[in-house]
Amino acid sequence: MPWHIYGLLLVLFVSPQACLVTSPCPQGCCCPRQGLLVLCESLGLRSLPISVPLNTSVLSVARNQLCNVDHQLRPFTGLQELSLSHNHLAHFPRGLPPSLETLQLQENRITFITTGALRQLGNLTRLDLEDNRIRAIQPGALLRLGRLKVLTLKGNQLTSLPRNLPASLTHLDLSANCISALDLPSLNALVNLQVLKINSNCLRSVPETAFDGLPRLHSVELANNLWVCECDILYLYWWLLSGRLKMATGLVCAEPTHLAHRMILTLSVMAICPRMITSTVVTTQSAFLNSLIKTTGDSGSAHIFQSASLCPHFIV
Ligand SMILES: *[C@@H]1O[C@H](CO)[C@@H](O)[C@H](O)[C@H]1NC(C)=O
Ligand SMILES: *[C@@H]1O[C@H](CO)[C@@H](O)[C@H](O)[C@H]1NC(C)=O
Repeated sequence: MPWHIYGLLLVLFVSPQACLVTSPCPQGCCCPRQGLLVLCESLGLRSLPISVPLNTSVLSVARNQLCNVDHQLRPFTGLQELSLSHNHLAHFPRGLPPSLETLQLQENRITFITTGALRQLGNLTRLDLEDNRIRAIQPGALLRLGRLKVLTLKGNQLTSLPRNLPASLTHLDLSANCISALDLPSLNALVNLQVLKINSNCLRSVPETAFDGLPRLHSVELANNLWVCECDILYLYWWLLSGRLKMATGLVCAEPTHLAHRMILTLSVMAICPRMITSTVVTTQSAFLNSLIKTTGDSGSAHIFQSASLCPHFIV
């Protein structure tokens, strides 16, 4: 199961037989465990159901037609998991209870994330905003979410990396946006990041040192971007070669024209950046490069391979 859908695990694992309608349960909903779970999904609701017990811990009103729930959930002081997914919300709901730990807002119509809406949610650990229409996140809007570990912004309209994300994040999914550059200060702040998904975006290259300050990072999805296989791509190229070949799957050049559709790691440094090879060979100034580059006789072109300890299977 992908990591981003654990939020309502309890709910998803409840069998239909367990879903008895008990007395304090709102009409049409089911309440598998009294005072704990309240499920009011796919009921065509245009407003929140009345008489949801105030001591509810997990509430799902997913797959309804809710447009606005501002301040209506505030009295639920023990609410820990809330799903508002697949509704018609046009903005991030205001006045949510500060007890929330998991919040599912995927498939709504949210366009902006502003600082005010999230100010109270210091206990949030998972926030799912997949498939909204988010074009901008106010810098620092998420910074107060000091316990946020999993943030999903897949399938929105972001054009840059959100700024001032909380350092607590371990999983960040930004796939299927059109982010065109990785901003180094924003990225370097994410010292606990383990998984970064930024596939299906508009990246053309990765800035030098981009991933060097992220010691826990063990998975980066980068496929389906607009990689320009020229000198600027060499940081990424060498980073992948240093034991991260699995992450290179699907990394294909979009430009220059003569390298379009080629897999980045099947190319030689010579093909990507001829001027670097030429200057290195001529001046022999870079000991690092010299340790990496070896010329083979058969094709007459320079090829690169990583030292055997780093990358035993990869010799071009
Ligand atoms: C929640 O409150 C109802 C009364 O409204 C009570 O019957 C139920 O036991 C309470 N549940 C919990 C888990 O406290
Ligand atoms: C936030 O979480 C802490 C620790 O789990 C808990 O003690 C505190 O009551 C929570 N805050 C709210 C507003 O529920």
